[in-house]
Amino acid sequence: MSTNQLDQKAQAWSALFSEPMSELVKRYTASVFFDQRLWRADITGSLAHAEMLAAQGIISPQDHADIQRGMAQIVQDIEAGRFEWQLDLEDVHLNIEARLTQLVGDAGKRLHTGRSRNDQVATDVRLWLRDEIDGLLGLLNDLQRALVGVAEQNVDVILPGFTHLQVAQPVSFAHHLLAYVEMFARDAERLGDVRRRVNRLPLGSAALAGTTYPLDRERVARTLGMVDANGQPAVCQNSLDAVSDRDFAIEFTAAASLVMVHISRMSEELILWMSQNFGFIQIADRFTTGSSIMPQKKNPDVPELARGKTGRVVGHLMGLITLMKGQPLAYNKDNQEDKEPLFDTVDTLRDTLRIFAEMIGGQLNPATGEKSGGLTVKPQAMQDAALKGYATATDLADYLVKKGLPFRDAHETVAHAVKAAISHNVDLSELPLPVLQSFNPSIEQDVFEALSLRGSLNARNTLGGTAPSQVQAQIARHRARLM
Ligand code: ARG
Repeated sequence: MSTNQLDQKAQAWSALFSEPMSELVKRYTASVFFDQRLWRADITGSLAHAEMLAAQGIISPQDHADIQRGMAQIVQDIEAGRFEWQLDLEDVHLNIEARLTQLVGDAGKRLHTGRSRNDQVATDVRLWLRDEIDGLLGLLNDLQRALVGVAEQNVDVILPGFTHLQVAQPVSFAHHLLAYVEMFARDAERLGDVRRRVNRLPLGSAALAGTTYPLDRERVARTLGMVDANGQPAVCQNSLDAVSDRDFAIEFTAAASLVMVHISRMSEELILWMSQNFGFIQIADRFTTGSSIMPQKKNPDVPELARGKTGRVVGHLMGLITLMKGQPLAYNKDNQEDKEPLFDTVDTLRDTLRIFAEMIGGQLNPATGEKSGGLTVKPQAMQDAALKGYATATDLADYLVKKGLPFRDAHETVAHAVKAAISHNVDLSELPLPVLQSFNPSIEQDVFEALSLRGSLNARNTLGGTAPSQVQAQIARHRARLM
């Protein structure tokens, strides 16, 4: 490190320090190797701050112009990979400020007027996260669209619905997929709600107590697009809270954890469905791997890993929420630990959503117009499975209720019928009419319609039910919503 750089670092606080940090402590306390990721948000925040300082007459128009010029150069250097990040300059903020001063002199040193790294870093993280949330919302939409697309093709495909992982009642495969669309729609709603609280401005709180300069915080908020639903500037209203609040990061990670939990549940089903014992679906080869010893194997690595990565994201939630416990007001260095879990949560979620949208919906090749990847559905295997396990037993009970039996009696009667069917190793629909009538004389020929998979589906024609007409209505609703 040059003497010049050492000077810059020393200048960042004061001449009060009589001995340098050890290398180990330097590495322990530095964040530049991960927080350099915030560079664009840091520069955006600085430019908004400088613009306001100039507008308020706190710095001169010339200083403002110099800061803009220097920052433009820094943006170019970072984008080109030419920027030299210095461990000795601790974090992204000091690195950029030191370089600015090197480039433009005193104007660079004036940038930090009325500001502290405490309100600066809180602003940077919020700006960065706001943009990431917007990207994630787009990816959640892609995944929902992919699911709705597969659903559209499979309204009349029937598979057994399970409770306790025991065959329960037949459902439409589209209906099953749309259950996940509901989950991801709620996730998007939740992320949008978190975004409102992310998009508020801490800058102008300075170290903890506000500042003596006549800042216009609302102007900075407007410049940074930190406005509420009515277009009014969204500014953190208490300086102590502003610099120390990380609720927004916890909320985001909680919302992300739920997305991953939904992905994980879906993964578990994909894994089951593609096992030989189910054989309901196939996923494209590019999402699977082989075994180094068993030549016949195709393993569902992607859903398995996603299930595993869910633990990682939930872990980040635990990490962040524990980070805040016991911190006195206001800023503490503990908060530097908010970044890696947050970054990793965003990365994991982004990659997972991207891969799942393609694995479910396939990918369009713009050159050929052909789609590849995407789920392969095996309707026959699904139907065969639905015919096992007496999935239409409830339908027989409902049939008897319509004939006047109280539901509890009908339930009991059907239990006897199922027992008989089991002993003959046939489905209820395969019992001859006289045998069925021996359980209840009111049973007639039309019982076989009720006992068919399709009859069972059609009968569940209530809002949110699995009847094809209901499922079509839901697909139309989602299509309109997701356009
Ligand atoms: N790198 C620090 C962080 O991530 C920036 C804020 C440092 N503030 C301070 N007073 N040491 O939180």
